[in-house]
Amino acid sequence: MPSSHPALGYAFLTPFYEWAIWLGVPEKKIRRMLMEHLKPEDSVLDFGSGTGTFLKELLAANPSQSIRGLDTDPYMVKTARKKGLTVDYYTAGNLPYPDQKFDAVTSTWVFQHFSAEEALFYFQEIRRILKPDGVFWLGDWGPSQGRVQTMLGKIVHWIDPTQNGFGPANYWPEWILKSGFRTVTRSEPIKTRLGTFYYWQCLP
Ligand SMILES: C[S@@+](CC[C@H](N)C(=O)[O-])C[C@H]1O[C@@H](n2cnc3c(N)ncnc32)[C@H](O)[C@@H]1O
Repeated sequence: MPSSHPALGYAFLTPFYEWAIWLGVPEKKIRRMLMEHLKPEDSVLDFGSGTGTFLKELLAANPSQSIRGLDTDPYMVKTARKKGLTVDYYTAGNLPYPDQKFDAVTSTWVFQHFSAEEALFYFQEIRRILKPDGVFWLGDWGPSQGRVQTMLGKIVHWIDPTQNGFGPANYWPEWILKSGFRTVTRSEPIKTRLGTFYYWQCLP
């Protein structure tokens, strides 16, 4: 059964989430890369939108864009709404949207927390709510580049045991294709202090 997973593994750490990201990753670069792939006319859902940093930047660049977030953590939803963003709250499970609603679904650092069953479930749900010519952008940790990155990855996994490590990312393309997507393409790696980050472009 799909469930909610705290951003940093423990609910008491959630208020420090933005700091952790700020300290650990080249956030602007990572957010901009994704923004560059979205068209201003796209209706966008950010799945697991957290504090809304990505949506806020997207809205600043295209104030008339139709965008919304979705999250299971009341603290995250409240924080993002305070920034003037439209964010839906739900308690995990089926996504609260009709079939083929969005041109683009984005999701960054969410799937790292999911079990195989949950990941497969959400790939299918995201496929369902995407328009036939839409796109799903998955951003997350993936295969480590080099020994230092592998060690950093292990430390992060040790601190946050709700992370599945970086192994599942190797299976995502297979599960994404099994969920009804036609193609999956992985970006070049981005090395960060917390591990190696990638985007996967998934086309229905
Ligand atoms: C590590 S944070 C990433 C936040 C944001 N995407 C970002 O890029 O900063 C993971 C987010 O996924 C949310 N989340 C966890 N389980 C979820 C689920 N089953 N459905 C939707 N969101 C979920 C958490 O509440 C949290 O806000």
